[in-house]
Amino acid sequence: MTDLSVLAVVSEAFPLVKTGGLADVAGALPGALRREGIGVATLLPGYPAVMRQLEGAEDVFSLRNLMGAPARIFRGVAGGLDIFALDAPHLYDRPGNPYLDASGRDYEDNAFRFAALAQVGAALAFGAAPGFAPDVVHAHDWQAGLVPAYLHYDGRRRPGTVATVHNLAFQGQYPASLLAGLGLPPQAFSIEGVEYYGMIGFLKAALALSDRVTTVSPTYAAEIRTPEHGMGLDGLLRDRGAALSGVLNGIDTDVWDSASDPLIAQPYDVDSLSLRPVNKAALQEKFGLAPDPGALLFGVVSRLSWQKGVDLLIDNLDLIDRLGAQLAVLGAGEPQLEAALREAAAARPGRVGVALGYDEAIAHRIQAGADALVIPSRFEPCGLTQLCALRYGALPVVARVGGLSDTIVDANEMAIASGVGTGLQFSPTTREMLAATLERAARLWSEPDVWDTLVQNGMLTDVSWRRPAARYAKLFRDLARERAA
Ligand code: ADP
Ligand code: GLC
Repeated sequence: MTDLSVLAVVSEAFPLVKTGGLADVAGALPGALRREGIGVATLLPGYPAVMRQLEGAEDVFSLRNLMGAPARIFRGVAGGLDIFALDAPHLYDRPGNPYLDASGRDYEDNAFRFAALAQVGAALAFGAAPGFAPDVVHAHDWQAGLVPAYLHYDGRRRPGTVATVHNLAFQGQYPASLLAGLGLPPQAFSIEGVEYYGMIGFLKAALALSDRVTTVSPTYAAEIRTPEHGMGLDGLLRDRGAALSGVLNGIDTDVWDSASDPLIAQPYDVDSLSLRPVNKAALQEKFGLAPDPGALLFGVVSRLSWQKGVDLLIDNLDLIDRLGAQLAVLGAGEPQLEAALREAAAARPGRVGVALGYDEAIAHRIQAGADALVIPSRFEPCGLTQLCALRYGALPVVARVGGLSDTIVDANEMAIASGVGTGLQFSPTTREMLAATLERAARLWSEPDVWDTLVQNGMLTDVSWRRPAARYAKLFRDLARERAA
């Protein structure tokens, strides 16, 4: 039974369509909120993958002209989620990535594609679907950023609005000349509204006009109030005061369960850790690494972009060699980084293995087989791979930024002595500090008892959605109560 209704508006959701952690969050949070008595329906663009997987779909309403052509809104179930799918073939029926064309460039009409999503979100918020009246609208990232704007400028009584920032680096900025075409009134183009340095800012609009703003970790919530990490929005974020908070992500502990994971060679849990090396051997074979159980195997599962700092790891390959360690990387992204990794694997056979592309199964196999997972991010709003690593017994080696700082307990001497360490942290994110930390990992690796204790601490850490969902539930309920008063 649920007693509060939320409409989530988002551009991707696991397992339907995923390019990163946003999809994981959008896919898992509804189930966790249901256990808190909150029902979530999720509005997604009707990409081919979404339309294909939608079951029991009912046509709930249609629009004669949504950004240039007709559109229909279906409600159904897909991937275990209660879905509103926005079927607008002129906007979403395209092969490939939700945001990029085949050559990796942003679609030219992204402003219209995601403004359309937001317009339909606003329509649903105002009751366009019979029998559906959300108490709160939860808008994720810039793609849903105009939902609060449409609701605000409409003037009718509206549900509460919460905007969640998953990454301030993606802001959705478009020329001011699009204002009318996006269906925004002239007065919206102001410093209190959607205007941002002379342009229209989708994320800026959400930050300015939502009742509450959240981001995905407490540390990132503090960081983005500073000029160093605020990406031009720190002033506004400081102004929002207590309306801005950080709620840590969890992971779906059914999808990420080493005891029952069908994608790995050998299931195991914290009480049967002696089975885990079977997965290491399988990973070494898969990545063409020497079949050496004693070699410290570092893993990476990452988008390949400047944010993730994988270049710093590439700069440390000689050190990894000297330590007698190995490296297995799964990643996709920037062509230069892909090329550098390809070269590294070719130059260091048996030591460095690389899989380029997006592959859910390999991601699980790295988490289950690597001894340590390296995440040298320059910034990281939350990060999910370190949570998977904790749960799977791969020691997280992370930069002390954002959510990485909130989720890993550095195994310094004190932490080891008091039995609370779960990984290694370093700061600042530089090649030298990463090098020192890889060496620290190697020293710990030579003390198996200490290492095993750290791994066990990690595996016993609660990385589920239970606690985060309770925080979102409180936020949503407080807001709904405030709006009803
Ligand atoms: P971000 O969203 O910034 O990419 P997160 O750590 O929050 O970073 O989430 C990344 C998600 O995408 C995780 O679920 C991770 O396992 C997955 N992932 C990243 N790269 C790949 C890849 N190349 N293949 C498969 N899964 C990947
Ligand atoms: C973004 C961030 C990542 C976060 C994810 C889910 O992609 O880069 O740190 O974990 O969103 O919130």
